[in-house]
Amino acid sequence: MRRLLRGFDMDLGTKLFQKYWHMVCHRNELPNDGDFLRFKTPIGDVVIFNDGGDYVAFDNRCAHRGTLIYLTDFGNQANTCKYHGWTFKSGKLIIPSVEQFKGCDIAKADLRRYRLDWCGDFLFLGVAPEKDLYAQLDGVAQYIENISFNISGRVDVSAYEYECAWPLALENALEPYHIGMVHPGTLATLKLEDGVNTFHGANSVWQAPVGDVRIKKQLGRLGSFFNIDYAYEGYMSIFMFPFTMISSTFGYSYSVQNFFPHKTRNDRTNFMSRLLTCNVKDEHAQKIVQPFFESSAKVNRMVFEEDHSICKIMPTDSWSSEPLEFISEQEVKIAHFRDLCRAG
Ligand code: FES
Ligand SMILES: [Fe+2]
Repeated sequence: MRRLLRGFDMDLGTKLFQKYWHMVCHRNELPNDGDFLRFKTPIGDVVIFNDGGDYVAFDNRCAHRGTLIYLTDFGNQANTCKYHGWTFKSGKLIIPSVEQFKGCDIAKADLRRYRLDWCGDFLFLGVAPEKDLYAQLDGVAQYIENISFNISGRVDVSAYEYECAWPLALENALEPYHIGMVHPGTLATLKLEDGVNTFHGANSVWQAPVGDVRIKKQLGRLGSFFNIDYAYEGYMSIFMFPFTMISSTFGYSYSVQNFFPHKTRNDRTNFMSRLLTCNVKDEHAQKIVQPFFESSAKVNRMVFEEDHSICKIMPTDSWSSEPLEFISEQEVKIAHFRDLCRAG
């Protein structure tokens, strides 16, 4: 049954999840055999797994009787079901006492797999995507590729449920109008200028200079410790419709955030943020920038909690895909987002 709340189609999240590609990880986040990342999505848990150097995306359920295989958000673990030991390795299932599966076509047993494709060193998940990945990404593909070749690994993962509807969580991430009120001690200290929005198909890029002169100088000086060939020297946030943002200040680290619709509740969002770090010059530089990465992870977590605290007080039926009646110039991306949601 379809439930409508002021134009909030409960199937919209699932539809968008299936028809678009979603950025799920960077090559250097899962470097070893057995490394995995688990996402909570509107179609259930999806796991990205390093299978001896090949990347596999699958429904986190055993092909035998549906037991969950991975129980944490990330880590390193063999792909073995705890119930009867079915194991996925080197692209196929190894089944204990396989000779006893007589009355069935056991050769057909496999994980339920999803599609994966690369943009540079970023991996994207597709369930039933309507377009090629590059056609979907349009003009942001170039940014994503350039960023990807500068990333060395991951230093933080934070995953939890936002207590609000997914379009509200996303719209909050799409406008800087709230920064002064909601992030006075964190993001607002950068004194970001108005900046420029550019639109690329369903996606967009916001680039805003850092207005605080002292912070800008401090950030600029850190550049000598990095070995990067691409950066925007200010705050940049790229939105990949429908559910993913990637943002950075000066291109030393990137925060990737997925806001996936909840499987069963329209007033919950599966939020995951990961902090990816960029190539540093050498070991000495690594020691110097390590505290910077740690404080970035801490501040990012605070910023997301601040966002969550405001999203929590927005009732689900505050959202509709209709255009906002009162809209500021800083909220133009919300208009774009709603246009796309109306198109489904
Ligand atoms: S349910 Fe997984 S091995 Fe049986
Ligand atoms: Fe915010």
